[in-house]
Amino acid sequence: MKVLVTGGLGYIGSHTCVELSKKYSVVIADNLINSEIEVLDRINNIAHSKVIFEKIDLRNKKEVAFLFEKHGDITGIIHFAALKAVGESIEKPLLYYENNINSLLNILEQVQQLNSEINFIFSSSCTVYGVPLNLPITEEEPIKKAFSPYGETKQICENIISSSSKLNMNLKSISLRYFNPIGAHESAAIGELPLGKPQNLIPYITQSVAGVRGDLTIFGNDYNTPDGTCIRDYIHVVDLADAHIKALEYLSDKEFSTNEVFNIGTGKGTSVMEIINSFQDCTGKKINYKIGGRRKGDIDATFADNRKSLNTLSWSPRYSIEQALESAWNWEKNYREISE
Ligand code: NAD
Ligand code: UD1
Repeated sequence: MKVLVTGGLGYIGSHTCVELSKKYSVVIADNLINSEIEVLDRINNIAHSKVIFEKIDLRNKKEVAFLFEKHGDITGIIHFAALKAVGESIEKPLLYYENNINSLLNILEQVQQLNSEINFIFSSSCTVYGVPLNLPITEEEPIKKAFSPYGETKQICENIISSSSKLNMNLKSISLRYFNPIGAHESAAIGELPLGKPQNLIPYITQSVAGVRGDLTIFGNDYNTPDGTCIRDYIHVVDLADAHIKALEYLSDKEFSTNEVFNIGTGKGTSVMEIINSFQDCTGKKINYKIGGRRKGDIDATFADNRKSLNTLSWSPRYSIEQALESAWNWEKNYREISE
């Protein structure tokens, strides 16, 4: 199987390409808007693979048509490419709608013209659930108004894929709703590399401990949780990568067109305070922190009911939260050339 991975040089894409290229022939399409070309060599070094790279802006119809012309023999697509900064999406909504929606439309337009079957995996997010009515969150949880244009693009893209699958009998699709991906490959050669000041908890912690950022601010300790800090479902990025391969295999085995959604999380909630304590315990590094006010849009707790993925995709997470945090720190140390 030849698999097209859009956004394959990014954080989750690069980890998925490492796993994927052990079994399949892989073509990455990325415009490097939030990634670096060096990642390609790192993927190929880790996996001893020959992943092909096409520098393509997926917003550009002609470039996408060229991509499909050149690689008309693809049978799988994993669509990671998107802009993902929630705050930026509130400031620049049009950029987010344009990038995230047009990229998908251009790809699906090409898929429609293929005469062969395509197994299509889309990167969605637990953000589509908004404030959940029930915990843990199942896939049956109603979709509510998104907090941000970014979240809205995920809802819209899921709907576009679902409508396309109903009409295109060659299209078999899955939207994977990721909870909070963290950590890095055990080689520490690839990992999460946020542009500028990290907005997310784990990269802020590792950069703060590395001395690149100031003290961590805990965004509120007055939430309705046992220790007052927010609870999230943190999933090791290598486990998340594996879920994509399992999802592709599940679709390949399906005889007919289908469109399904799956939660990808560990099923376990961890508070910000528990993350701080686990990180300190497993790395021996102290995190300096202060308590600040709540961040707008944050909710008390989210964590996945992952039984559908466990039972249907034959997938299960293998890594503990400690292993994920340790790997995140190892990546930060390697990237900053910090020796201990
Ligand atoms: P990332 O920014 O590291 O990777 C995205 C990649 O897509 C980058 O390499 C970027 O250069 C590329 N890209 C963006 N727009 C493009 C375009 N128009 N044409 C070609 N390439 C383009 O992000 P990530 O964390 O790896 O996330 C991957 C996907 O997973 C995204 O769709 C994101 O919304 C989704 N997701 C991420 C998280 C998370 O916490 N990281 C959570 C839920 C869902
Ligand atoms: C993020 C995304 C969300 C996405 C989800 C899953 C944002 C604003 N939201 O949310 O769209 O669906 O990941 O990938 O990016 N925290 C601090 N101090 C910090 C940073 C974070 O206390 O400096 C806290 C937050 O308040 C939150 C927890 O840590 O309670 C996790 O934050 P973060 O890593 O940003 O993830 P989400 O809030 O789940």
